[in-house]
Amino acid sequence: MAFTVAIDGPAAAGKGTLSKALAAHLGFAHLDTGLLYRAVGAKLLLGVEPLEAAETLTAEDLAADNLRTAEVADAASKVAVIPEVRAALVDFQRAFARRDGGAVLDGRDIGTVICPEAEAKLFVTASPEVRAERRWLELRARDPKVAFDAVLADVRERDERDMNRASAPLKPAEDAVMLDTSDLGIEAALKAAIEIVEARM
Ligand code: C5P
Repeated sequence: MAFTVAIDGPAAAGKGTLSKALAAHLGFAHLDTGLLYRAVGAKLLLGVEPLEAAETLTAEDLAADNLRTAEVADAASKVAVIPEVRAALVDFQRAFARRDGGAVLDGRDIGTVICPEAEAKLFVTASPEVRAERRWLELRARDPKVAFDAVLADVRERDERDMNRASAPLKPAEDAVMLDTSDLGIEAALKAAIEIVEARM
């Protein structure tokens, strides 16, 4: 039986951690769709044409270990504005969503474009400052010199690009349940998400 949980929201709202924990709780498969755009962005930085990169993505590309860097995130949000790149990634995401046993997909357009028929939809948000702080703590573990202000500027710039692009902009689906994690720890956010999903099962 297929059951799709669509989780959308801006960068560093806690979607990733929440989606992974929710999938584990439900026994569902999990796809972080940002990785697809990051893998295409990483290829762009190597000089590969984005559409070609999107059409030929391999499991190995998705496992590359530079995908979490700020440079690749920036390249990802640039390739993500290209409609042909987005289109090339649709079938893979839809097939994943409808697999037997249930799936949690997190991204920007899962509830609106990829899986408008998803059984459960969440839109996870947090204030830009809270999101920047989370991202900063994460990045600082790898690079102690990274400045908070630079991370905040980056979060705002990426929000701007994600919300204002013509193709599949970041916005809540009409039937999405909003979950603001600004004042919620992961345990509380997970509990809220489980309640929302189980009410639809
Ligand atoms: O979620 P993450 O930060 O890994 O996503 C990287 C970039 O990929 C985002 O800034 C966004 O531009 C793009 N993206 C997207 N649609 C998705 C997931 C990510 O456009 N479903």
